[in-house]
Amino acid sequence: MEIRILSLPMIICLCFIFLLFSHLSSATTTTTTTTLPTDGLRFNAKSPSLQAEKLIRQLNLFPKDATTEVMDNYYSSAAPKLVEKSFKFPNLIESSSSSGSSVEDLGHHAGYYRIQHSHAARMFYFFFESRNSKKDPVVIWLTGGPGCSSELAVFYENGPFTISDNMSLVWNDYGWDKASNLIYVDQPTGTGFSYSSDKRDLRQNEEGVSNDLHDFLQAFFAKHPQFQNNDFYITGESYAGHYIPAFASRVHKGNKAKEGIHINLKGFAIGNGLTNPAIQYKAYTDYALKMKLIQQSDYKSINQMIPECERTIELCGTNGGEDCITAYSACTAIFNKILDVAGDINYYDIRKQCEGNLCYDFSNMEKFLNQKSVRDALGVGNIDFVSCSPTVYEAMLMDWMKNLEVGIPALVNDGIKLLIYAGEYDLICNWLAGNSNWVHAMEWSGQQDFARAPNVSFVVDGTEAGLLKSHGPLSFLKVHNAGHMVPMDQPKAALEMLTRWTQGRLTEAAAVGTEHHHLLTVL
Ligand SMILES: *[C@@H]1O[C@H](CO)[C@@H](O)[C@H](O)[C@H]1NC(C)=O
Ligand SMILES: *[C@@H]1O[C@H](CO)[C@@H](O)[C@H](O)[C@H]1NC(C)=O
Repeated sequence: MEIRILSLPMIICLCFIFLLFSHLSSATTTTTTTTLPTDGLRFNAKSPSLQAEKLIRQLNLFPKDATTEVMDNYYSSAAPKLVEKSFKFPNLIESSSSSGSSVEDLGHHAGYYRIQHSHAARMFYFFFESRNSKKDPVVIWLTGGPGCSSELAVFYENGPFTISDNMSLVWNDYGWDKASNLIYVDQPTGTGFSYSSDKRDLRQNEEGVSNDLHDFLQAFFAKHPQFQNNDFYITGESYAGHYIPAFASRVHKGNKAKEGIHINLKGFAIGNGLTNPAIQYKAYTDYALKMKLIQQSDYKSINQMIPECERTIELCGTNGGEDCITAYSACTAIFNKILDVAGDINYYDIRKQCEGNLCYDFSNMEKFLNQKSVRDALGVGNIDFVSCSPTVYEAMLMDWMKNLEVGIPALVNDGIKLLIYAGEYDLICNWLAGNSNWVHAMEWSGQQDFARAPNVSFVVDGTEAGLLKSHGPLSFLKVHNAGHMVPMDQPKAALEMLTRWTQGRLTEAAAVGTEHHHLLTVL
């Protein structure tokens, strides 16, 4: 999920954005009390040495413990690229779908990929084989941030189980592993259980991110050749609205160039993403006004900040570098201004109050992942778990205001499916002014037909769970009664969405509930 900010020397009180952030990682830091933000949004200047120490710890630059089997392998130059183990989580409450299942039956794996084009980086991942059929598509999920762990999704959104307060794991009836062979990666380096002992491995842009992910896929499919011919889909949320188009383009390019193993890429899906900042940032006030978070007078005054945001984003696009930091600062100021007016709302779900630094309480995940029995099962040794890494976040600052929509037309024009979905109550990556606007503005071969396509009901269990608009490979789904984390708020609808979309029945199923709506376009 998302974002927050750090104070850089040149920017005091940059307020934040998409990232969730560091405070989940309190277990890793004994010095945190002085460095934590006083509220969820604003970071104060910190003592440089404390900050450096914290950042180093958060990047796991110096793994304290090299004694586990997984780690040992890495210190030899002959180490395999990918070290994986099958495991069963301790405290997993058996259910009819798992009773008595052995480690082998479960098909749950955790591993580290030694990133090929890095100095010393290891990428942690989970691989959960489908509970339904090994023939199901392979789906990879990326959480945003930048710098937030995909374990947030594993345990709070679409993973095989959820964590109960007593630290047992309960099977999730709507885990996406019911319809796919599901991979979660912690990336970029420094996120979650992924780490490096070399600072140069911090990624600063989508080129670095997408190359690492592509290299990972190559190693993954080499290790699991039986899944190479399955359909393959890329999914994720929030800042992954940047990662996903870059990753999909990288895979498509590799396929065209016959680079390594062919990846059977069929589509990519972005949930409440940040993809085209120029359109999304200038639209915040429209959404905020419509949802009555601000009034007309606020709307007018905050809108005066838009030209500077647009101007600096353009410079960022042309020049990159420092100009992108300037744009970040100018544009996030708009969002922060809205929050100043709106008060204590949860900017991921405006129906709620922001409680705690993350606006949600994900502390059970930290507790769970820091148990020795769990760490032993996963083979992660003493590597610190970083829920949302400020180091990674900060390293990616110049990437933030880049427009990732530009690579998408080449993909959809080649028939690769794109699903943009968004929970209707999310402010930070909102559906209307933000996502719907850029999707409509995107120039591709079906742009006009998409614009003319009707909104149809997306029906789950006889109830309208969302509104869907589709043409050819492009679909846009507004999800009802959900905030930023759609699979958390509407787990059943989210699983239905994935299942129908990957099976090519998203629009077909939508027709079922259209009696009081419009006719479908024929695709
Ligand atoms: C822990 O909580 C789960 C779910 O609420 C429950 O099924 C289980 O029995 C509890 N386990 C213990 C040991 O209390
Ligand atoms: C579809 O819904 C959007 C958002 O509510 C609206 O702006 C648009 O006019 C609708 N399109 C049609 C064809 O009804």
